[in-house]
Amino acid sequence: MAVTQDELYATLDLDLSWSEAALPERVRTKHVHRLHPYHGKFIPQLVEVLLDRYLAPGDHVLDPFAGSGTTLVQALESGLDATGVDIAAFNCLLMRVKTAPYDPVDLGGELRDACARVDALPRRAVRRRGYLRRWYAPQAAAELLAFRELIPDYRHQDVLRVVLSRAARSARRTAHFDLEAPKAPQLGEYWCYKHRRTCRPVESAGGFLRRYTLDTLARIEEFARVRDTERDAVVVHGDAREAPLEGPFDGILTSPPYPGLIDYHEQHRYAYELLGLDDRRKREIGAAASGTSVAAIEAYRAGVAAVLARAAASLRPGAPVLVVVNDRRDLYPEILARAGLELDGRHRRHVNRRTGRRAGEYFEDVLVARAA
Ligand SMILES: C[S@@+](CC[C@H](N)C(=O)[O-])C[C@H]1O[C@@H](n2cnc3c(N)ncnc32)[C@H](O)[C@@H]1O
Repeated sequence: MAVTQDELYATLDLDLSWSEAALPERVRTKHVHRLHPYHGKFIPQLVEVLLDRYLAPGDHVLDPFAGSGTTLVQALESGLDATGVDIAAFNCLLMRVKTAPYDPVDLGGELRDACARVDALPRRAVRRRGYLRRWYAPQAAAELLAFRELIPDYRHQDVLRVVLSRAARSARRTAHFDLEAPKAPQLGEYWCYKHRRTCRPVESAGGFLRRYTLDTLARIEEFARVRDTERDAVVVHGDAREAPLEGPFDGILTSPPYPGLIDYHEQHRYAYELLGLDDRRKREIGAAASGTSVAAIEAYRAGVAAVLARAAASLRPGAPVLVVVNDRRDLYPEILARAGLELDGRHRRHVNRRTGRRAGEYFEDVLVARAA
């Protein structure tokens, strides 16, 4: 006999509804999780609890919508191997930098050297065009471009690319409270909700470049102290509907994009502009730019179902498929069925953000499924 919804919740009781006091921002953004801002990630503690409950050390977990790499980083900390797929080149760069093994002396020497050179960056005027002209003050653009020219001098080029991108995000002409998705440059003074005073847009990037170079080093060093050095992470840049997967995996843990909510390439536009990354936004499932029309929602259902079906085909028999969703549109019963997955149960999580402009509360579910 089929179980009722209440029984499903009861069987999977697991406390995932941490308060802000129990899990302050500093803990949610520990070590490399805060290497670079990324809007739309889940918190590492959720991954930690789920890996502990459904997988075991030594297992290999797959995240087909890996984003900023929360699953991969936490897997390495919890003693698992991990593979992550993402369509966005910047997300893959960020994941590789977070999860690569480093020689600490070599990395420290290079990043301190690059940091020392920031003070001596040539401040010559550069001809700003297009995006750079629109979003950066002349000095900020000159410093970012000069830092970019230093990168080929080092072995840890991807680490420096992430530093450059983070500084480029902070140095845009935007209001301090609107760094996530500014629509237009902020050219003059403005009332700042974040600092509760009048602020001016940023003019230079040097301070950010220095600060983020050293912060990146400290965060990678902190992660090196807790990661399991026997375990590896593999990053696959591609469309998870067709990217090659080297299973068998022991489980899937993922949070798919939500329809019409976030443009994952666009949120890091400055990185694509400065680093010349490959833009595959047309392959993004559920992109905000695609909207939420009936056709867009159907494309979303078909896209996520195709990814989950493909990922599930690379699992060992009986392995768990854990999908973190805020399924306001009730799309997932059908998506799971189309993917050939059966729902075992779900954990409900109360998310209550007390900080930031997006403060508010909502519920999200962890769907626990297996191949039918
Ligand atoms: C909700 S985010 C995942 C966030 C991740 N859990 C984290 O903590 O960073 C969804 C991700 O799916 C990716 N994505 C969208 N369409 C994709 C596709 N066709 N193939 C692979 N990844 C895709 C987006 O680029 C985005 O990074």
